[in-house]
Amino acid sequence: MRARSADQQRPASTHPLSPMEIVEKAMPDDERVWVPQAPNVWFRPLMFNTLNGGWCNLLRVRKSGVLSRHLHPAPVHGFVLKGQWRYLEHDWVATEGSYVFEPPGETHTLVVDEDCEEMITFFNISGCMYYVDEHGRCTGFEDVFAKLDMCRKHYTEVGLGSDYVDQFIR
Ligand SMILES: [Fe+2]
Repeated sequence: MRARSADQQRPASTHPLSPMEIVEKAMPDDERVWVPQAPNVWFRPLMFNTLNGGWCNLLRVRKSGVLSRHLHPAPVHGFVLKGQWRYLEHDWVATEGSYVFEPPGETHTLVVDEDCEEMITFFNISGCMYYVDEHGRCTGFEDVFAKLDMCRKHYTEVGLGSDYVDQFIR
């Protein structure tokens, strides 16, 4: 449901064209809400911004080691909810409770080390994930629409229905 309709309760202080708010238990009780992204990697959608081009999600990684190398053309904000991770290109470690700002123009490679059973991080991603190989050549990308398509496919397969994802679209 992207826009408010007449039967939806709306405080008088809210403009009629304002889209609906999203209030969601970020950590889902239903395992099916996690969308597989790669072996041992899942994302949990929270908000798909189809106007600015971006999305908010939780990323969950279990015992995965080195993940794909990628470039961001636009800023990314992260908040670590559980576990820890780092980028091969940096000497810092993002630990539970850390806020991370990933500046536009940076290429980096996510690593979850052996001693971390599971990491979960909230990410607010603008633009897209631009995947590159070790020579910086593009191997693929994900934008808000690609993420939406992944969700629709998964939610159809697990019985939640393709429209389950609609609640996160603005
Ligand atoms: Fe990144």
